[in-house]
Amino acid sequence: MKKLFAVLLSAAMLFSLAACGSTSTGVNQPESGEGDAAGGQIVVGFSQVGAESDWRTANTESMRGTFTEANGYRLIFDDAQQKQENQITAIRNFIQQEVDYIVLAPIGETGWDTVLQEAKDVGIPVIIVDRMIDVSDDSLFTCWVGSDFRKEGDTAVEWMQNVLADKDSVKIVHLQGTIGSSAQIGRTEGLEAGVAANANWELVAQQTGEFTQAKGQEVMESILKQQSEIDVVYCENDNMAFGAIDAIEAAGKTVGVDGDIIVISFDATNAGLTTTLEGKINYNVECNPLHGPRVENLIKQLEAGETPEKLAYVDEEAFDATTITQEVIDARSY
Ligand code: AHR
Repeated sequence: MKKLFAVLLSAAMLFSLAACGSTSTGVNQPESGEGDAAGGQIVVGFSQVGAESDWRTANTESMRGTFTEANGYRLIFDDAQQKQENQITAIRNFIQQEVDYIVLAPIGETGWDTVLQEAKDVGIPVIIVDRMIDVSDDSLFTCWVGSDFRKEGDTAVEWMQNVLADKDSVKIVHLQGTIGSSAQIGRTEGLEAGVAANANWELVAQQTGEFTQAKGQEVMESILKQQSEIDVVYCENDNMAFGAIDAIEAAGKTVGVDGDIIVISFDATNAGLTTTLEGKINYNVECNPLHGPRVENLIKQLEAGETPEKLAYVDEEAFDATTITQEVIDARSY
């Protein structure tokens, strides 16, 4: 009798374990057992570039704040620490875990074909967010949402053309973002087209500050030692602008409205716009990081069996130090 009871007990335990562990996607669920694919929980693997800037922090917060268990998701977040090989490893891990969706914020545009083919082979949709990828076959990703970085560059150049129209000679220092990223490529193309179109503009230095404040400062310090005449510093994000401003001021020069050197920046984060309101950044072109709800909207469309737009560009504004107000800054969440 004792033996029969033990057999029945083990069978019951095995049955309940199997019931807890299985989902229609085969992905392991959280220990709390809260939800499963059948019960509506969607598993999202998100490969983030890193934490190089205020923009990136706001972007991570937007994704984490959207893909919560309360909203019906299990988010597997991976910080690649600025390395493409880490992103490739993360994607392979997501594939192994049989996630429902892979979301990739790519560091650079190239080098994704092989790993995305692996995701495609097992039928996991891949959503690209923020920067774009350059692949031989567009069916390797389902859809993309992000910024028009070339348009951002053109917007900054248009402002420069208006403000610098009367100057005989304009010497420009260019601090680039991570080389090979769409944000760098688009903003650089915009400036280089501006330099080609304006005979009085001269690019006196062009170097990467890798989108970080520390590197922006270091690079600007070294440029200031070699270049005494600078009219404009075109920084491809707010953090590099902060670093450049620190370097310029430490060298005894002034920046911004009525300053020695005009500062152009991108992102328009809260800190960036505060520096714009202070008059130290002359012109700040927005790059909107709040992609969490946008990616969720794409997933909802896919869940409903719809086909989202392949490419979705976010609307963005630009802010001039002479017209920006505190109210504009207060109204923004990043
Ligand atoms: O891809 C967006 C860019 O990446 C932002 O301009 C920059 O701040 C970030 O690191």
